[in-house]
Amino acid sequence: MTYSTVLTEIRGRVGVVTLNRPQAMNAFNNLMLGELFDALEAFDRDDNVGAMVVTGGEKAFAAGADIKEMAESSPFGMIKQGRVEKWDRIRAIKKVVIAAVSGWALGGGCELALSCDMIIASESAKFGQPEVTIGIIPGAGGTQRLARLLGKQLAMEMVINNRTLTAAEALHFGMVNRVVPVEGYLDAAVAFAEEIASRAPLAVRMAKDSVNAAFETTLTEGLRAEKRNFYPLFSTEDQKEGMRAFIEKRKPNWKGR
Ligand code: HXC
Repeated sequence: MTYSTVLTEIRGRVGVVTLNRPQAMNAFNNLMLGELFDALEAFDRDDNVGAMVVTGGEKAFAAGADIKEMAESSPFGMIKQGRVEKWDRIRAIKKVVIAAVSGWALGGGCELALSCDMIIASESAKFGQPEVTIGIIPGAGGTQRLARLLGKQLAMEMVINNRTLTAAEALHFGMVNRVVPVEGYLDAAVAFAEEIASRAPLAVRMAKDSVNAAFETTLTEGLRAEKRNFYPLFSTEDQKEGMRAFIEKRKPNWKGR
């Protein structure tokens, strides 16, 4: 598959998708959003890929939705394009997706990072939701995910008053997993993803699904979801292999079944 606005490569067992509209600070037009999700879905289906990384450029991860493309839109025009619904495609990805963020992650760019499972930030990363400065609000989950992640006060400030978070602040508030030097930030994210790709694939998938359940439901329902994911793993070859390998003091050889 060839794309015109994203680059893809497989490094080891990690599928890397790079947003590639540097002339527009990686602002998402409709085409790039579609290609990004196409590329992630292709990696999700590919047995050679164990985990994924989404990244942008050193100066800008992504500056949000393409304002020039949206400027004259009507509500029906936006609905017809499914501008918001499209984002459900990243929620449906089964493998782990890591965002490698350097520079600006604004608006939809911040929401993209938040839609990933974990975030590796370079020291220059800056996160913000400036939508109110152009007369709209976040539409790809920013209000909800920031409120859940950071609590009401900080989410309000970011969404209402364009407060941006530096990488160090994002780490302090638990919004990112690691902050690494700008030089080599992508390599660090790929190494992080490679470690995940070396784990038992079905267990990783169930683990991701179980943690995500915590954001959807009550504790009782969440515990049920965890149990529904826990028991079936005892029917997998990888569970037998993993436990035998531990007992035999050797490295497990995962089959993904
Ligand atoms: C279209 C954009 C853009 C955007 C930057 N550009 N962001 N074009 N949409 N979101 C373009 C600029 O117009 C300019 O093009 C070029 O990229 C370089 O940008 P500059 O502004 O000259 O660079 P700089 O001064 O370094 O500032 C970088 C920046 C700033 C801080 C990232 O560009 C900025 O504030 N961008 C807008 C951020 C934003 O408001 N995002 C929210 C969008 S709404 P030219 O042709 O002049 O060189 C959104 C809603 C999501 O995301 C809804 C999802 C459903």
